[in-house]
Amino acid sequence: MTASPHPQGLTGRPEWKALGDHYNAMKSMHLRDLFAGDPNRAKTFSLSACDLFLDYSKNRIVAETMHLLFSLAKAADLKAHTEAMFTGGRINITEDRAVLHTALRSPRGTVLEVDGHNVIQDVHEVLDKMARFCDRIHSGDWKGHTGKPIKNVVNIGIGGSDLGPVMAYEALKHYSNRGMTFRFVSNVDATDFAEATFDLNPEETLFIVASKTFTTQETMTNALTARQWLLATLNDEAAVAKHFVAVSTNAEKVQEFGIDTANMFGFWDWVGGRYSMDSAIGLSTMLALGPDQFRDMLSGFHDMDVHFRHAPLEENMPVIMALLGIWYSNFFNASTIAVLPYDQYLKRFPAYLQQLTMESNGKSVTLTGASVDYDTSPVYWGEPGTNGQHSFYQLIHQGTHLIPCDFIAFCRSLNPINDHHDKLMANVFAQSEALAFGKTSEEVAAEGTQANLVPHRTFPGNRPSNTILAEKLTPRLLGTLVSLYEHIVFVQGIIYEINSFDQWGVELGKVLAKRIVPELQSGSEELSHDSSTNQLIEHYRKSHGRS
Ligand code: F6P
Repeated sequence: MTASPHPQGLTGRPEWKALGDHYNAMKSMHLRDLFAGDPNRAKTFSLSACDLFLDYSKNRIVAETMHLLFSLAKAADLKAHTEAMFTGGRINITEDRAVLHTALRSPRGTVLEVDGHNVIQDVHEVLDKMARFCDRIHSGDWKGHTGKPIKNVVNIGIGGSDLGPVMAYEALKHYSNRGMTFRFVSNVDATDFAEATFDLNPEETLFIVASKTFTTQETMTNALTARQWLLATLNDEAAVAKHFVAVSTNAEKVQEFGIDTANMFGFWDWVGGRYSMDSAIGLSTMLALGPDQFRDMLSGFHDMDVHFRHAPLEENMPVIMALLGIWYSNFFNASTIAVLPYDQYLKRFPAYLQQLTMESNGKSVTLTGASVDYDTSPVYWGEPGTNGQHSFYQLIHQGTHLIPCDFIAFCRSLNPINDHHDKLMANVFAQSEALAFGKTSEEVAAEGTQANLVPHRTFPGNRPSNTILAEKLTPRLLGTLVSLYEHIVFVQGIIYEINSFDQWGVELGKVLAKRIVPELQSGSEELSHDSSTNQLIEHYRKSHGRS
């Protein structure tokens, strides 16, 4: 199924125009007045789903705003597009692929046929193979080349083959096997490999080479270096089989690299890299958590899938959050969204979301190839609170940019020590309150502030935020949270009429880098780039005495 865009494009939709008119009425309304005028506001604009509580009342909305946004989603036929995704429609039209990351967490025994084949059965076969492998590693049955059990796991991958695994490992460290060491190598900068391995014993180290295509320059370079590093100590090609496994869709390339395909964990072209942390790409996560907790994480993903697929738009958490994102990006000209987890374990969550959101929706042509005349994905960024408060929150409170914030916090700490958690939570609640309500110049003056300092100490407020609260960070909850954002991205992609599932924008740089490598390595090859690029290459060559 393909989208059925409005003949005059998104901005030609009457629903879009109605939102534009509504914005003119809303832009000067202050959250202070909206709250003062409606004692039920917090209740009206809150929602519970899948153990997440979303308070979106501190947004610059009234009931009419939501009504207009839902009308836009309906006009875009969101429900039909959602069904197309869940049922294996080839909605990634530029690559002619289905988009079925939701199948990765469908319960055993369910059926979803793609081209006459039940993909859910394939998913569970791979999960079972991963679980058997984990059991062998954990029990010590799988031994390294010299007979020692595996104690260290190094995941080599980049983009979706790295960000999900690192984020999940960090997020769920509390639940992980502390007797093992997990490292992640992504950058082609050799420092990444060197630092990740400097204190590891090759005899006890397993490399997971994670790459959907098994052709990615960075990953292949790091994998070859890893093999060299291993053989420098073990000195026997046969050791590779005991210390390398692969996660990929490309069995041929895996074999070419020298990894036995018996030690390969597969996935499918209908899993996008940035949607793959719950596929075999999560092998390091399963090794850290064990198969049962990995399955708990999948259940959390599935909970949110079911909610997203079946809840009415008006009670649908990903839909509401996606529409609010559009409200700010396209009507308030907010070009970024800050994601601010008040949980140190979620320190890599914003980085993970950057690929998910921006590689998906950083597009400027529609499904039909027409140029868009509206902004698509905002820039996502963030850091855990409270650290960010002592860094960039100044700009969010008093700067000139409007930055909608997603606060994420947990009622229970996984490390309940003294009153740390009360203080952490007091901060998250205080921040959204300060952003929304600010402090007027009258209030500042009434505190006896020197007149010339009043403007500096005034907080305009009216800065929107969502707050997501959950009881506790668990594997299941992490799955739910990731799935929430996956579906937010999907909804925005549908409304923007773009393909959220390709990433042609990363190709050109890759091609040019391949061309430049031999030019750097030879001093004599004539350069035919622009004068700036030629100059930079010459500079580097000189530094290496190559010209
Ligand atoms: O360069 C972008 C990208 O294609 C991402 O979409 C992907 O997650 C990453 O590279 C890694 O790709 P692979 O898993 O094929 O090595």
